[in-house]
Amino acid sequence: MSKTSLFITFEGGEGGGKTTQINTLAKALTDQGHKVVTTREPGGTAEAEKIRNLLVQREGGEWSPMAECLLLFAARSMHVEDIIKPALNEGKIVISDRFTDSTKAYQGYGYALPMNKIKAIDKAVLDGFEPDLTFVFDIDPEEGLHRSGRRLAAENLQIKQTEDRYENLEMAFHKRLREGYLEIAKKEPERCHVIDAAGSIDDIAAEIAKVVQERLG
Ligand code: TMP
Repeated sequence: MSKTSLFITFEGGEGGGKTTQINTLAKALTDQGHKVVTTREPGGTAEAEKIRNLLVQREGGEWSPMAECLLLFAARSMHVEDIIKPALNEGKIVISDRFTDSTKAYQGYGYALPMNKIKAIDKAVLDGFEPDLTFVFDIDPEEGLHRSGRRLAAENLQIKQTEDRYENLEMAFHKRLREGYLEIAKKEPERCHVIDAAGSIDDIAAEIAKVVQERLG
């Protein structure tokens, strides 16, 4: 089989089922004889995993949206140079669970960090490097949070007066996130393919496989 490099990213809010589909796609492509690298953000290198721990663990720190953005791009810079580009240069298919669209969606649309600042940092760090193909998993945030168990965590706070407010804040954030992702996809229809994540696992896997095969020619 001829070497075909392709950089594919999976994006979306919580509970969309990205991980299952990444594993299915990676296996299908490997079975076809492609060399596949799966990775994730924040993460993918030892240093980036350390930054991931700062950002995603509860005791990791209280970062401002700008500080988060800079940490994410610090991790992304090494991830791209050390893992993603070398694999693509060897003709491999790289599948990443999240990439720059996550920063635009979470820090930009979610936490209101100005998009022009995110774009300026993106340009300075990655200089136009972006995925060839992006699957945006779209799901009603109520359903997504329910699936990911975060809503249950909110309900377990057991503080009656603040419970509603907490949930509403959470929900407003996740609604902005969803709208942001759909806007990103609308602006770049060549790169972004929106997946209705409410569909069946098999149907979604078939849709993804079809789009990837078209790209691979
Ligand atoms: P996940 O990979 O398990 O979804 O966890 C990563 C979390 O980090 C997720 O809540 C989204 C968040 N995140 C950002 O806020 N900005 C980013 O640029 C990335 C890559 C992730």
